[in-house]
Amino acid sequence: MNAPLKIAVAGLGTVGAGTVQLLQRQADHLALRAGRPLVVSAVSARDKSRERGADLSAARWYDHAVALAADPEIDIVVELIGGSHGIGRQVVETALAHKKHVVTANKALMAEHGTALAEEAEAAGVSLAFEGAVAGGIPIIKTLREGLVGNRLGRVYGILNGTTNYILTTMRESGRDFAEVLAEAQALGYAEADPSFDIDGVDASHKLAILASVAFGRPVDLAGVYCEGIRHISALDIGFAEELGYRIKLLGIARLTDHGLEQRVHPCMVRREAPIAAVEGVFNGVVAEGDFVGQLMLEGRGAGAGPTASAVVADIVDIATGRHVPPFGVPVGSLARIAGAPMESHRGAYYIRLMVVDQPGVIADVAAALRDEAVSLESMIQRGRSESEAVPVVLTTHVTVEAAMRKALAAIGKLKAVLEPPRMIRIEDF
Ligand SMILES: NC(=O)c1ccc[n+]([C@@H]2O[C@H](COP(=O)([O-])OP(=O)(O)OC[C@H]3O[C@@H](n4cnc5c(N)ncnc54)[C@H](OP(=O)(O)O)[C@@H]3O)[C@@H](O)[C@H]2O)c1
Repeated sequence: MNAPLKIAVAGLGTVGAGTVQLLQRQADHLALRAGRPLVVSAVSARDKSRERGADLSAARWYDHAVALAADPEIDIVVELIGGSHGIGRQVVETALAHKKHVVTANKALMAEHGTALAEEAEAAGVSLAFEGAVAGGIPIIKTLREGLVGNRLGRVYGILNGTTNYILTTMRESGRDFAEVLAEAQALGYAEADPSFDIDGVDASHKLAILASVAFGRPVDLAGVYCEGIRHISALDIGFAEELGYRIKLLGIARLTDHGLEQRVHPCMVRREAPIAAVEGVFNGVVAEGDFVGQLMLEGRGAGAGPTASAVVADIVDIATGRHVPPFGVPVGSLARIAGAPMESHRGAYYIRLMVVDQPGVIADVAAALRDEAVSLESMIQRGRSESEAVPVVLTTHVTVEAAMRKALAAIGKLKAVLEPPRMIRIEDF
């Protein structure tokens, strides 16, 4: 058998410790697949005394992760500290500067600096692999970049954040409202104490930006991702969605349009029968549409020690066997200059919910505001009658342009009988 591959792991938290545990538990099987033993030779974390659930006695300990990344004995640096700047980034840049292969699960880093890092890896002649950064255990990077290489992809979309999918699923199943379900998710450890990264769509945007680059061979463009979270989704909207035959999901969608590449993360109404609607709870799911393969969906655990370690180790084995592909499928200099499509030019159907005072003429005023922007209605539901309280009115539209929809909603929001800002959720056509 060939000489061992020497691995340094920076960060021994959920994913780092999980990765070391996997490498040790599956050592024989992995040595066969990799054609050489995979040995964890060096590690770094903040607290040396903490138990990591793995035997680290043979690994050199580094207090400073950047020094570990420069260790001349090491072949691969696995960065599992996190963060788009600071120590995680320094570890990756140092490793590349020392011509070491890098494996990372750091989505923030790849979303913000992915293209520059890919360029550095290319210049150094080493791999930069990041399967664990998107959808945890789902091998979506490899699937898009290698498995579907024979296709032109038109659209890639998915549930990329397990926390928000858990919240939306629980809201639907229990009929409870957002704040209550979020508090429960925090108590159960499914949501962070500061949940904004997840519920405001930031985490999903990072993953979408990376996915879009891999799928469309384009530089990573996080700034080009339109992002809306789930804070404003109410039990009322979830109930109406059910009634209309939809489920509400927070999706990340990258789609080629006549205006360029759309990249958007926001709550969507998807038909209940659509495969993505069946991805529930903490699970993630990604759908790719290719011109030869048709539609394909992968579903699985999008986070956690085991699933993410599974992805990280797949990258390590690729490097061990010498399988090398440019991080985004093509050399950085050949990445496509596809323009980003502004959200205002998005075309789609819309769900609108208004809270109105039930008085004569309200619906006519709402219809007139929509007509003025050439938005045509598909259906309307009006529930309950009360002269003193606001009642919900739900409208769905035919396909229209986002800019027109926004103007119409601004006009509707100014009507005296409309008591709350109108709620709008985009309806997807899958
Ligand atoms: N958790 C998931 O399910 C998941 C899924 C996909 C991707 N990821 C990504 O994987 C990365 C790691 O996430 P995680 O959940 O494993 O994080 P985590 O549990 O917070 O672990 C972070 C690790 O980094 C170490 N660390 C922090 N600052 C350090 C420093 N200055 N020098 C050396 N080590 C330092 C910590 O040391 P101590 O343990 O001593 O404090 C800890 O071991 C992130 O980029 C995350 O986005 C995570």
